[in-house]
Amino acid sequence: MKAVYPGSFDPITLGHVDIIKRALSIFDELVVLVTENPRKKCMFTLEERKKLIEEVLSDLSGVKVDVHHGLLVDYLKKHGIKVLVRGLRAVTDYEYELQMALANKKLYSDLETVFLIASEKFSFISSSLVKEVALYGGDVTEWVPPEVARALNEKLKEGKR
Ligand code: COA
Repeated sequence: MKAVYPGSFDPITLGHVDIIKRALSIFDELVVLVTENPRKKCMFTLEERKKLIEEVLSDLSGVKVDVHHGLLVDYLKKHGIKVLVRGLRAVTDYEYELQMALANKKLYSDLETVFLIASEKFSFISSSLVKEVALYGGDVTEWVPPEVARALNEKLKEGKR
């Protein structure tokens, strides 16, 4: 069975990688889908995020990285995929995730959203937190893969030029 793990991944963190590895032990194929969230202003372009994720996941099989502009359900319908994977870190995620799962189900009735509980050690990480800590010179190497730590450094240097 094929599933999609969507998100803005700006940037991908070890919390996301944990969910991806665990989803791969359940599903035969997983598409990590970099999508737009119109409510967010991102640091990395969609293509930069895709490239970074491909680098980070290069050792894993059964996973593909793709980019989508527009409604998530349109991508799922086009590719005949009926399962969405999302991670839940804390109770605070629940309301937002419930709203999205119900809206997506309304738009695509065959769809099921499967929630994986984030591992405890990554349950406080978010992409914004990582960016904020990196911006002020803090160490994020325990929260992101090395490729991402390097990309963050580069981006922040570019911003200062
Ligand atoms: N580990 C670490 N961080 C995690 C995490 C985990 N296991 N699970 C969630 N997060 C964090 C992310 O880092 C992100 O942090 P940020 O807000 O600081 O950037 C946050 O939780 C949630 O982000 P994400 O999972 O990327 O969701 P999102 O809200 O940015 O986007 C989409 C969700 C992309 C799936 C949604 O916007 C979408 O479907 N877009 C397409 C348009 C569409 O169809 N809209 C209608 C939806 S009903």
